[in-house]
Amino acid sequence: MRSIDGVGLEQVRGVYDGPEGDLWELVMGEQIHIGGMASSMDLAEKAGIRGAARGIDLCCCTGAGMRCLVRLMQVGRMVGVDATRRVIELGRERCREQGFGDSIDFVEAEATGTGLPGGEADFVWGEDAWCYVSDKPALIREAARLVRPGGAVAFTDWVEGDTPLEAAEAERFQRFMKFPTFETVGGYRGLMSAAGLRVERAELTGRFAAHARLYIDMLEKQMTYDALRIIGFDMGLMAAMGQEMRFMLGLAEKGKIEQGLFVARKSG
Ligand SMILES: C[S@@+](CC[C@H](N)C(=O)[O-])C[C@H]1O[C@@H](n2cnc3c(N)ncnc32)[C@H](O)[C@@H]1O
Repeated sequence: MRSIDGVGLEQVRGVYDGPEGDLWELVMGEQIHIGGMASSMDLAEKAGIRGAARGIDLCCCTGAGMRCLVRLMQVGRMVGVDATRRVIELGRERCREQGFGDSIDFVEAEATGTGLPGGEADFVWGEDAWCYVSDKPALIREAARLVRPGGAVAFTDWVEGDTPLEAAEAERFQRFMKFPTFETVGGYRGLMSAAGLRVERAELTGRFAAHARLYIDMLEKQMTYDALRIIGFDMGLMAAMGQEMRFMLGLAEKGKIEQGLFVARKSG
């Protein structure tokens, strides 16, 4: 697992509390993860989540993934955990407006220590968000604690690909993205085993590069004015962001950064 200094929850909250988070939603949609609904459906199918009674989404943001699972995968109830108050407030509003007020709850907490009762969830869920959590061993232990025996821990995340990053590349990429630590597929596999989970899937999805291109196109070819409005027409910031996104695309094209998909089960 790679680590950088000076980036932690405060900086991550800074993203999702303001314009940078709005910008991600502009180019990616309500579901702020690679592959949007198709990725959610794929993960849910692979983890056998259809019709589950209770799920917990760790780092749920505004809860778009939870609404997707309740609406399209017939999940009964979801609880979303997030450490940024603004996205939780927005999520509650969206759930009320879209008719999920009774089936989806939010908890403001760190994903490594949710305070929720253990052993009750049919599944614990995460989509492209655990990359922001510094203490990944504690996060995986919390997911393993929350899930009931026989239940699944299912998540996608940004990971280092099969071609290793150079140290300077990792530093620049993690600093731009505000990822305090950055895992590999093998690293997550080890953490899940250490937490007592049986790993069923730990693989790369191959989606990253094509989607990174799509987000750059959205910013440069279609949503430029909307993006500029969000960042107060700061042309310098726009140019810098475009440059960093192109840098990220270059890494993805070389197989250095990817989206990983993971399904593990608690025995019992
Ligand atoms: C990319 S967004 C999540 C997107 C969401 N999973 C989806 O698919 O729409 C990342 C979220 O992780 C949350 N987050 C980051 N670190 C966290 C932590 N340590 N504990 C709880 N939430 C955290 C942020 O507040 C943010 O809302």
